[in-house]
Amino acid sequence: MDNLSLIAAIGNYFELGLDNHLIWKIPEDLVFYKKMTMGKNIIMGRKTFESMPSVALKGRNPIILSSHTLDNVCDVITFDDFHKLIDYVKKTNEEFMVVGGSSIYEQFLPYVNTMYLTELQNNEPFEADTFFPYFDETEWNIQLMNSFMDNDIPYIRNKYVRKR
Ligand SMILES: NC(=O)c1ccc[n+]([C@@H]2O[C@H](COP(=O)([O-])OP(=O)(O)OC[C@H]3O[C@@H](n4cnc5c(N)ncnc54)[C@H](OP(=O)(O)O)[C@@H]3O)[C@@H](O)[C@H]2O)c1
Repeated sequence: MDNLSLIAAIGNYFELGLDNHLIWKIPEDLVFYKKMTMGKNIIMGRKTFESMPSVALKGRNPIILSSHTLDNVCDVITFDDFHKLIDYVKKTNEEFMVVGGSSIYEQFLPYVNTMYLTELQNNEPFEADTFFPYFDETEWNIQLMNSFMDNDIPYIRNKYVRKR
């Protein structure tokens, strides 16, 4: 789907999060996240929604997937069914960005056309309880966007565009 992209920061061992939080703090990556999501529809799971500071939602249009009614939340759209949400995305030309977490990446990955992955170059695995799903790199054109090898945590950023 051309109007559906994905953004994530992943460890070398596909680590994503621990105890419903990000594992690392990379200020430059938060700036990139802001640039890529501002003004867009952002799709996330209920757990990621609950873990996000309000500043990460401000100026975006959050769409939350949850099987429950979410109490005390406003200015968000909720869906209780993945396929209803996919139909909603299909019916519009607006841009949608999938922002996690693990269960959401797993379900949406087959449908996204573009992925922006910040890829940490850690030698040892980070402690993690959620992981980015496996994907076959040969199905994607990969463009190196940036590399930050002199940081405390070296990382690169790749843009993946699905081969047609
Ligand atoms: N490194 C990164 O770039 C990045 C980005 C985002 C998140 N994360 C991390 O990822 C972790 C969270 O990932 P997660 O997999 O545990 O949780 P999640 O994907 O954020 O949320 C899972 C919840 O979403 C709802 N959901 C998922 N699929 C659904 C479906 N088909 N129908 C209805 N509801 C559905 C369910 O909510 P209900 O239980 O309410 O039904 C489910 O419990 C955290 O550690 C977070 O920090 C990392």
